[in-house]
Amino acid sequence: MAKRSVEVQVLDSDFSVLLRESVTYEFKMESRSKNRFRNFVMFCMFLALTGIIYFSYFCSDEACALTPQKPSWSEFNGKFPVQDNLGKPLSLHSNPYNSRSSNPGLSYDDVLNENFQFDMNAHDVMVFLHIQKTGGTSFGKHLVQDLDLQRPCSCQRKRKRCYCFRPNRNENWLFSRYSTGWKCGLHADWTELTSCVDAEFDKNEGDSVKRRYFYITLLREPISRYLSEFRHVQRGATWKHSRHWCGGREATKVELPLCYDQDSWTGVKLQEFMDCPYNLAHNRQTRMMSDLALVGCYNTTYMATPGERNRVMLASAKRNLAAMAFFSLTEFQKSSGVQCLGKSEGQEIVKCLTNVKSFILIGIVLQY
Ligand SMILES: *[C@@H]1O[C@H](CO)[C@@H](O)[C@H](O)[C@H]1NC(C)=O
Repeated sequence: MAKRSVEVQVLDSDFSVLLRESVTYEFKMESRSKNRFRNFVMFCMFLALTGIIYFSYFCSDEACALTPQKPSWSEFNGKFPVQDNLGKPLSLHSNPYNSRSSNPGLSYDDVLNENFQFDMNAHDVMVFLHIQKTGGTSFGKHLVQDLDLQRPCSCQRKRKRCYCFRPNRNENWLFSRYSTGWKCGLHADWTELTSCVDAEFDKNEGDSVKRRYFYITLLREPISRYLSEFRHVQRGATWKHSRHWCGGREATKVELPLCYDQDSWTGVKLQEFMDCPYNLAHNRQTRMMSDLALVGCYNTTYMATPGERNRVMLASAKRNLAAMAFFSLTEFQKSSGVQCLGKSEGQEIVKCLTNVKSFILIGIVLQY
């Protein structure tokens, strides 16, 4: 049933309302009359197809821009006045105590219950939080290359970047390495992104725009991820241009000493890698998902004990993860439907990523 609703919902924003009703209807009708229901669905499908054909052939883009009258942006704002602070400047987070009470944004539940969609034509922005060695590079490429969009991202062979613009104007809807680049720092974490993304968009689009941010990420089984990072560092990777921005400044050399003397840690042995107390690989996923302002950023003496610091970080990471519009587990992408991203997988696979709503449904499939 969930799968079916994915199929149906991605057809088109306007028709999806109608069709989603039909799915709800199905639950009620099934016991009474399957045939009558089938006819009803066929009728809906027919209506939808006719509509799509009408829109695509007889209607210019401008005359028929599908700006929904659905409860979208303005109504959303009225309902959730406090939830806009995700992606806002750090001033909102700089006081750890304020930060503790700040609302991390839209959760799965909000998104499902409020029945809203990612609105390409409005001011919705998808932000990909890319943690090292979680398979984010290929996922990020899928995001710019393989989504079935009204206006696909335009990518150039030579450059690594793509333009992922909204259908009706040249504004980015995707914040990621292959669209906007590392505008908030190399592999920016939750703390960096939420204090920077909105300001970056303000630079290009003006600060009068209120945007909704949909954060997405991938997580990986931590030991595999750790070993993968170890091998990557052994081969010479450093990510030394990461900013580790928090509380309005970058972490200092004292707060975050390097584990190696030379330019890189090439050839490091596993034991040595594990023994370095400043090695960010140790709790990378937790640290990158958490609101570091809560623990005094990279100042490790801010919290009474390391145990306390770790507990707060983990709790914050869990809360932020729950507040994301979508996350996937690297190991389960193949068996859970994220393969619908790949063109190579064939057209019979549901084109399921035209809106974040379907992202969420895949997320749910993932959980079972
Ligand atoms: C780190 O935190 C401690 C405890 O709050 C504080 O005394 C110290 O000044 C902080 N260090 C820096 C560099 O801010």
